[in-house]
Amino acid sequence: MEAIKTAKIFTIVGARPNFMKAAPIIAAIRKHNKLIQGQSAEARRFSVTLEHVLIHTGQHYDAAMSDQFFSDLNIPKPDVHLGVGSGSHAAQTAEVMKRFEEVLVREKPDLMVVVGDVNSTLACALVAAKISYDVKGSRPLIAHVEAGLRSFDREMPEEVNRILTDHVADLLFVTEESGLHNLRKEGIADEKIHFVGNTMIDSLLAFKGKADGSPILEKLGLRTGDAVSGATNGTTRYALLTLHRPSNVDQQDRLLNILEGLEELANSHPVIFPVHPRTQKRIAEFGFERFFVAPNGSDARQDSGPARANGRIQLVEPLGYLDFLCLMRHAAVVVTDSGGIQEETTCLGVPCVTVRDNTERPITVKVGTNILAGTSQAGIRQAARQQLTSKVTGRVPERWDGRSAERILEVICREFEKRQSL
Ligand code: UD1
Repeated sequence: MEAIKTAKIFTIVGARPNFMKAAPIIAAIRKHNKLIQGQSAEARRFSVTLEHVLIHTGQHYDAAMSDQFFSDLNIPKPDVHLGVGSGSHAAQTAEVMKRFEEVLVREKPDLMVVVGDVNSTLACALVAAKISYDVKGSRPLIAHVEAGLRSFDREMPEEVNRILTDHVADLLFVTEESGLHNLRKEGIADEKIHFVGNTMIDSLLAFKGKADGSPILEKLGLRTGDAVSGATNGTTRYALLTLHRPSNVDQQDRLLNILEGLEELANSHPVIFPVHPRTQKRIAEFGFERFFVAPNGSDARQDSGPARANGRIQLVEPLGYLDFLCLMRHAAVVVTDSGGIQEETTCLGVPCVTVRDNTERPITVKVGTNILAGTSQAGIRQAARQQLTSKVTGRVPERWDGRSAERILEVICREFEKRQSL
């Protein structure tokens, strides 16, 4: 039998939405190595063992935005923490680049995996694209997970990050068909593109059962154990809200407009809002406290009886993965400006209202449960009404089946083997 070679792989994470996308890849690498060690028939298809190094840039650093996700998703402690923190786009990106370059030169991985579209994704991809390990100009292969998504809105920082990362990547792992078309239209060679499905959905499917054991519904007074005033099966019909996109929350009139657009929903349903630190700051800065019931810790409602619709939105601290997944799964409607939540609600079959004019994830509208509401008051009201009154039906997109990380690893191993045999 062929001797087993070792290849070094970096996985990069930095911000909250990276963790659930990277977790299945890390788990698949561990499984691959175990199989190789055990010499199973399955592993004999491959002759590469993988040395994995997990890098956290530190773009997100609060316990609630980072640490909690590591424990919820069983992600091992990072091997390297760059401790970058917040800053302007330029300062944050530059700081990640400077600190990451040192690690790359020292460790010389054969391949690095970047996920999603945050500043850390682009910063690390850019460093790797220009590094030279030796006089021949060797550098790591760059694998981009969630390649090809496009909102066609260059004012979104993530759109710039996505386009640039895709154009320096060597392996592009695509979640939905639109990604294939977008990359081909941009002239990216077919052999680099792999339609593998969605690793964030791998995480969702893997942790859905565990999330059901979360006590969050009881803590928030949404599940009372018996059916009382409007409650079905003991669970109140409620809405779940997330808003953090700079274009929605950084301008006073824009945020005011959205909050007024949500008043009708808050009059008819309890609206639970795990608030991002950025949005929390803006609410205080603009004096918008009147729209909210303030959080007193996430179990503020524990002693205050069932949650009620009172026209005001219930603020809670940012939640961990399992608590949030539990809330999402049982919501009557989810209102959001997040990218990932549009996909998660589609997979769960939960109605979603997206408070944006565009989406880089069109499959969630085409076959899933998502409606693009825009950001006008009338648009938000109308979309919420529609999602609450009509029966929402959708289907789960192709290859969102819990096996995406496995497909990615298969491509990566084949790539190593191809290169070693050249
Ligand atoms: C980043 C991503 C965005 C993603 C979002 C999820 C970019 C360009 N944006 O946006 O795509 O949807 O994460 O959360 O990468 N802050 C804290 N604690 C933290 C992290 C941030 O208080 O742990 C505060 C800081 O005031 C910081 C602000 O939030 O300035 C924004 O953080 P930043 O990482 O710049 O971007 P996000 O808005 O979180």
